[in-house]
Amino acid sequence: MEPVNAAIIYYSATGTVHALAQAAAEGAEKAGANVRLRKVAEQAPPEAISANPAWGQHLRDTADVAEASLDDLAWADVVLLGTPTRFGNPASQLRAFIDTTGRLWQEGRLAGKVYSAFTASSTAHGGQESTLLALGNTFYHWGGIIVPPGYADPVQFRSGNPYGTSHVSGDGPPTDVILDAIRYQARRAVDTAAALKVGRAA
Ligand SMILES: Cc1cc2nc3c(=O)[nH]c(=O)nc-3n(C[C@H](O)[C@H](O)[C@H](O)COP(=O)(O)O)c2cc1C
Repeated sequence: MEPVNAAIIYYSATGTVHALAQAAAEGAEKAGANVRLRKVAEQAPPEAISANPAWGQHLRDTADVAEASLDDLAWADVVLLGTPTRFGNPASQLRAFIDTTGRLWQEGRLAGKVYSAFTASSTAHGGQESTLLALGNTFYHWGGIIVPPGYADPVQFRSGNPYGTSHVSGDGPPTDVILDAIRYQARRAVDTAAALKVGRAA
């Protein structure tokens, strides 16, 4: 059986979610998947970006990361979406990419895949769960199989979010516990997609 294809698609302005996405890619690779790590296109005007030096710096630092395309979604058996929390919701840059998927959705080509999501916010009660649940609404529409981390691994009792890995960036960069949690979440999603692939082929 061919390995499953995993697309890790994210938006990050200042690097936090990018760090989570990289760890997700590691976890998926270690679980045996073919992995595409993809950023979505920046939509913000240059004056907004230049008002925050860390934003511009991260854009330059990740210039070599390929931009997400509809082909990445069509190719994938498992999709992990990552976004900063913006006023309790996913970032508009990620939503803009999601809003280009109408034709794939209409053709039924987003259904039956495994989906999972991760986020970061600056404060602990700043809307991580509402952001992840909002992405869940899209997964329902796509006919996806949502695979959250739950408390299905000991790391989850330390990282603490069963809806999806989430980091409080106001406390500093992602800790080893958070990075282990997102690696675990990616592994669980890949393992589920692999089991589905075997089952569907039988
Ligand atoms: C426009 C905007 C809205 C935000 N809204 C929230 C929010 O609702 N709750 C929160 O805790 N942090 C909020 N933040 C902070 C980001 O979620 C946080 O800095 C995140 O870790 C950034 O991820 P990144 O480094 O990958 O860009 C907001 C930031 C911006 C710029």
